[in-house]
Amino acid sequence: MGRHNFLSIRDFSPEDIHYLLDLAHEMKTHPSAHTGVLKGKTLAMIFEKPSLRTRVSFDVGMQQLGGFSLYLSNAEINLGKRESVYDVAKNLERMVQAIMIRTYAHDIVERMAEYANIPIINGLTDYSHPCQAMADYLTMQELKGAVAGLKVAFIGDGNNVCHSLMFAGAQLGAHVWVAVPPGYEPRPEAVEWALQRGTRTGGTCTLTHDPVEAATDADVVYTDAWASMGQESEAELRRGVFAPYQVNSDLFRHAKYDALFMHCLPAHRGEEVTDEVIDSAHSVVYQQAENRLHAQKAILLELMQYREAPERPAVAARELAQFEI
Ligand code: CP
Ligand code: NVA
Repeated sequence: MGRHNFLSIRDFSPEDIHYLLDLAHEMKTHPSAHTGVLKGKTLAMIFEKPSLRTRVSFDVGMQQLGGFSLYLSNAEINLGKRESVYDVAKNLERMVQAIMIRTYAHDIVERMAEYANIPIINGLTDYSHPCQAMADYLTMQELKGAVAGLKVAFIGDGNNVCHSLMFAGAQLGAHVWVAVPPGYEPRPEAVEWALQRGTRTGGTCTLTHDPVEAATDADVVYTDAWASMGQESEAELRRGVFAPYQVNSDLFRHAKYDALFMHCLPAHRGEEVTDEVIDSAHSVVYQQAENRLHAQKAILLELMQYREAPERPAVAARELAQFEI
């Protein structure tokens, strides 16, 4: 693949995304084939926001591949306040072999990648959530056979999860419909990118304000929190604005008879989704969550296994040889 970072689904070719999904599937079905491949390697995980799935899946993924992971919260780093992004990157690259970071502004992840001489993985920013999209499409591939041609309806806020779902859908030839209240659309350049990439893969991206139009004949109905992490002060206002976009049985019945219900989680039951839908036989939210592990193991393997370790300086080797004599 030739990429050293996993910052955005947009940085890859459609072939790369297919390859990573196939690798994830292979690692899920033959887990023992990859035991120990990251022996002696450490992943630093910087979390500026809370997490259940991302933390546990990266942690367990590294263990299963024979490596270590290190959880670093604001209490340790306080990125940009206690220490600059540059200094954090330059310190960590001396001690660990890759960094996963969950933060607010997307440019922090990009700057980290610019400064650090080790792979950087985006574990969610305000703009995107690429690891989630990989798990989402792995789940669709498992349950629907192929992603190309599926109608994927994202209903709710045009947020980070929505952006990555659009990007990966465009890479894989899906028809992504996004139904949002006026004023909560995904970023125009994100839609533009999805449309452009779709011309190559057969994928499409359609924006609407009508949740029924999006849900009608959908193969997948997807939703996420109405207020993302960092938007807690808007939660009350958003509850009113987004109420017509709730994924409940009335809305879900417009989808195909065998449609999947998906959610990145955590869910706010009774808000963006009702218990009736998330607990129904259509819901695959826990398979999605499990697939974070498999999708990310493929990403870790790709970024960390084949990357050459920096050569030890020749002088150190000579000194060691003299010492041993
Ligand atoms: N879906 C997801 O990223 O979950 P966490 O916030 O718990 O990591
Ligand atoms: N949109 C949500 C996703 C959480 C995994 C958030 O950013 O809080």
